Amino acid sequence: MFPSTALLSFAYLAVVYGQQAGTNTAETHPPLTWQKCTSANSCTSQSSSVVLDSNWRWTHAVGTYTNCYTGNTWNATVCKDGASCAANCALDGADYQGTYGITSSGNALTLKFVTNGQQKNIGSRVYLMAPGSQTNYQTFNMLNQEFTFDVDVSQLPCGLNGALYFSQMDADGGMARFPTNKAGAKYGTGYCDSQCPRDIKFIDGQANVAGWTPSSSDPNAGTGNTGMCYNAPQSPTILLQIWEANSISTAYTPHPCTVTSSTSCTGSSCSAPNSTAGVCDQAGCDFNSYRLGVTNFYGPGQTVNTNSKFTVVTQFVTSNNSTSGTLSAIRRLYVQNGKVIQNSMTNIAGVTATNEIDTNFCNQQKTAFGDSNTFSQKGGLAGVGSAFQKGMVLVLSIWDDHAAEMLWLDSTYPPSKTGPGAVRGTCAVTSGNPQDVENQSPNAQVIFSNIKVGPIGSTYSA
Ligand SMILES: *[C@@H]1O[C@H](CO)[C@@H](O)[C@H](O)[C@H]1NC(C)=O
Ligand SMILES: *[C@@H]1O[C@H](CO)[C@@H](O)[C@H](O)[C@H]1NC(C)=O
Ligand SMILES: *[C@@H]1O[C@H](CO)[C@@H](O)[C@H](O)[C@H]1NC(C)=O
Ligand SMILES: *[C@@H]1O[C@H](CO)[C@@H](O)[C@H](O)[C@H]1NC(C)=O
Repeated sequence: MFPSTALLSFAYLAVVYGQQAGTNTAETHPPLTWQKCTSANSCTSQSSSVVLDSNWRWTHAVGTYTNCYTGNTWNATVCKDGASCAANCALDGADYQGTYGITSSGNALTLKFVTNGQQKNIGSRVYLMAPGSQTNYQTFNMLNQEFTFDVDVSQLPCGLNGALYFSQMDADGGMARFPTNKAGAKYGTGYCDSQCPRDIKFIDGQANVAGWTPSSSDPNAGTGNTGMCYNAPQSPTILLQIWEANSISTAYTPHPCTVTSSTSCTGSSCSAPNSTAGVCDQAGCDFNSYRLGVTNFYGPGQTVNTNSKFTVVTQFVTSNNSTSGTLSAIRRLYVQNGKVIQNSMTNIAGVTATNEIDTNFCNQQKTAFGDSNTFSQKGGLAGVGSAFQKGMVLVLSIWDDHAAEMLWLDSTYPPSKTGPGAVRGTCAVTSGNPQDVENQSPNAQVIFSNIKVGPIGSTYSA
């Protein structure tokens, strides 16, 4: 997981959003069931839905069909500044399938990469709603718990990323804290992550108009002065990537932050290229089997065979085996064809062989790979765990990477680097150019299904 690439999907529809709620298209969340387990084979079904992030939505002047944002620029008439723009512009309902390629069926969610509706849409990001709710995200405390899902990455080539992760967000999308936000979780507002993305168009109830600079590589994106890394009061802003993957490589990566009050960042404090200057640990402590010396563990025809669906189990172990304990390890295992597959053991000089993320692993890995240990400086595993006490929101996405071409996940990164930690997968260093990926693999998709949450050991069986 690498600097400023991480969750920034720079790929948006050519029109975007406001902080009022629009009514030109009715907002109907695709339903998705998941399960809460108490012990093995004892799970109850939860009837939830998913909501599309607000950044992908059409934003138009309230009560009209006039765009507030077109391509990668704001309409200067209605968006003179952040406050007036938020007041003048409405975020509209989404045609999930037709415009964004998002469909659900029972417990399965399919996210398609390129969708040619009235306009061309690239990728998407959705959040899980609380059961039965249209206005609140589901929040999770995974301490001393286990999170499990099935995934099909067989149609996800080099340069793409089907991701499932937790982000610290207000359950109501920020409506209570920022009263000028009238759209809320129903319209997917309030995203933040440890990359402090500056491409978010509305932040804390205001439009990110000041200093907005259109992207040079992406016709649908840009960045403003303000970045989104706010957090719940008195707790660090955290991002916990359970799953970032395509058919070639995968990584799971916690990212702590040091921001301790409810705030958005500005300018370079959002995402300094040298991540020690930022408030968040953009690199994170990643576990990627290939990068850690086991090149035949994950991929087409490998031990975890990405040609077909498999189950991903992630366990959040605490210091005293209690939900109030300190997060001390994140463990991973897989189930495929009725067989439990333990995570690969590291095989890197200077790293004591392990198949989990814990503090010792993170410290040794940073040293072995010559990476600066911002993970530890920004709060480490314990810092990440503390975010769960506040509750974290589940995010699912598919994206390509305008910043680093996904090379940090599936290829050699930086491309000229050699030595330990450089190679993360078998994709060519030329493989992840977003334009190429969009042209060559428009039908790429990821399917997430069968999400289960419960005490450790309760959510899977062989
Ligand atoms: C910008 O907004 C004004 C006022 O609503 C409208 O007349 C104009 O057509 C808009 N411009 C674009 C490019 O949509
Ligand atoms: C990163 O920041 C550190 C500490 O401020 C500094 O010593 C180092 O030179 C910087 N590295 C780069 C590549 O800017
Ligand atoms: C937590 O549980 C594991 C096994 O489930 C046990 O090995 C370990 O000693 C326990 N830790 C504490 C601090 O109780
Ligand atoms: C677990 O550890 C936390 C933090 O040290 C402590 O507050 C809590 O009381 C402990 N819980 C149990 C059941 O031991």
